[in-house]
Amino acid sequence: MVRTIDWDTDAVVIIDQTALPTTFRTLRLETVDDLIGAIQRLAVRGAPALGAAGALGVALSARRHGTESEQALATVRAEADRLAHARPTAVNLRYGVERALAALPRGADVVLTDALAVLDEDERVNCAASRHAADLLLRRCPDRPLRVLTHCNTGRLATVAWGTALGTVRHLHADGRVEHVLVDETRPLLQGARLTAWELADEDIPYRVLPDSAAAAAMARGLVDCVVVGADRVAANGDTANKIGTYGLAVAAAHHDIPFVVVATESTLDRSLPDGGGIVVEERAAEEITQVAGVPVAPEETPVFNPAFDVTPVELLTAVVTENGVLATDRK
Ligand code: MRU
Repeated sequence: MVRTIDWDTDAVVIIDQTALPTTFRTLRLETVDDLIGAIQRLAVRGAPALGAAGALGVALSARRHGTESEQALATVRAEADRLAHARPTAVNLRYGVERALAALPRGADVVLTDALAVLDEDERVNCAASRHAADLLLRRCPDRPLRVLTHCNTGRLATVAWGTALGTVRHLHADGRVEHVLVDETRPLLQGARLTAWELADEDIPYRVLPDSAAAAAMARGLVDCVVVGADRVAANGDTANKIGTYGLAVAAAHHDIPFVVVATESTLDRSLPDGGGIVVEERAAEEITQVAGVPVAPEETPVFNPAFDVTPVELLTAVVTENGVLATDRK
């Protein structure tokens, strides 16, 4: 199986997520500017995949510019800084950049070796975190095959290979414990309808896509046993930034007493922030709202509010789970 992001002779290779679900193609990115462009148009996306992109981008830069002179090192550091700021919310991007930068004094080959280690680790820790989350859900919902609601895409496309929240679904499915997955379409860029549905179809896991606005109604009608989502940044107290719409889902799940679990890797934790108030939320272009597939759906010049993420307070969460186990279980 092709990894979502990988290294191939002096280039970063990604699955182009803007082309899915209709076309499966890979892109070779040979400069840090190519990589930044791909990150900003969401050709590569999802917090753990962005961590891998950050690490491989520094390796790309170090191999292109070398690490022998002060001038070369300054160029690599400047590119690394631009890369780390390509998108502001997922802390994994900065984590990946910093991991690879730490190897810079030992030369470009060591930077690449360390960057590739970030990719290998990602698959391993995703698998472990999602196993913990699956076990937690089986304890909380022991009685029936589960109807799991999820938001955005948190599968192998959002990571290097396995997935966090969708990795949990994959474990539960392998355990024979999934009735079906309810996939929020995830407006405006449709990561749920385009990417999560594509992954689930590929693995023959039963699913239905619903408009985001139908999720609370599905809960009210007793169609949802649990909600499982990923994270872009988790503050020290457990407040969680994730794809816009997550907060509303958590409010609805708390109202209906439905378990709501966040699955993330330790590299998504930002212990420098005491709570979610300090998380920078990316605001994206108005055209993502005023157009659908390039066709205007709002009057010209319509003012828009288009945050890519929201922050869910920890008290609405049943648990935040990482590869180290359960971090927070505040909501009863
Ligand atoms: O804007 P995106 O598609 O990068 O947003 C992705 C999400 O919000 C995911 O839920 C999150 O990164 C977790 S991925 C395991």
